[in-house]
Amino acid sequence: MGIEIEPLHPLYGARLHGVDIRAPIGDEMFAQIKAAMATYAVCVIGHDAPPSNEAHIAFSARLGPLQRSAQKIAGTGERVPYPEIVDQSNLDEVGEIYADDDRRLAYKRANRLWHTDMSFYDVRATYSLLSAHAVPPSGAETEFTDMRAVWDALPLSLKDEVAGLVAEHSYWHSRVLGGGPEPTEEERRTRPPARHPLAHVHAPSGRTALYLASHVCGVVGWPQDQARKLLDELMSFATQPRFVYAHQWRLGDVLIWDNLATMHRATPFDDRLYRRDMRRTTCRERALA
Ligand SMILES: [Fe+2]
Repeated sequence: MGIEIEPLHPLYGARLHGVDIRAPIGDEMFAQIKAAMATYAVCVIGHDAPPSNEAHIAFSARLGPLQRSAQKIAGTGERVPYPEIVDQSNLDEVGEIYADDDRRLAYKRANRLWHTDMSFYDVRATYSLLSAHAVPPSGAETEFTDMRAVWDALPLSLKDEVAGLVAEHSYWHSRVLGGGPEPTEEERRTRPPARHPLAHVHAPSGRTALYLASHVCGVVGWPQDQARKLLDELMSFATQPRFVYAHQWRLGDVLIWDNLATMHRATPFDDRLYRRDMRRTTCRERALA
């Protein structure tokens, strides 16, 4: 049986019916999933219960080399002890909601800024797969924008200005921008900045995409105020409502997005009252030694 594709937005995004990542997936169906990802960039696969961590990891590994064991923020315990899984919950190592003054919570709130995952690494992230294990009763949607559609709609003058520019991405830039505390020098050294072109060809679709994120802290060779002005203009353009799809989570959803074709952000919920248990795997452009 083939996959049934239900578009979620006029420009991108789809729910894939007839797929269950807890069951074996044949090569033909897997090729259909990859083709859907190339076209839609954000795909949702629903389940009646969350897939196990093992099933999540096994399915993700078929989409590319997995990020393993990201260095943790100081003091982070292991609630989900798999090196392939990033714990994107508001829960500490014993499963309790973070205390309000926990610096890990402050850093997680930076995910409410528009970004693409791991752009602060030299080897960029391709797909992220987020699995919903506990969903708050309201809020906490994940919003997306398709950076290929954004590029298509960008005025020619801005396309010309952006072509050939290289941006610098820093994890700590977005953490502080998001209201987190200044990192220690030791923390800074765990994630040095990386440089990437501001526009690139998204290989799976062959379309040009803007590659932007709140991690961007400058444009190589440009004075800071000039760079900030251009980056702010691009960010405002890229996040206009006409480009945005807001995903309302259901328990058991596995959402896949292509970081090289989209940006996303978390939206607020009462993270001191409700549990939100989301687990993410991330594929990279190539395996790291
Ligand atoms: Fe993210």
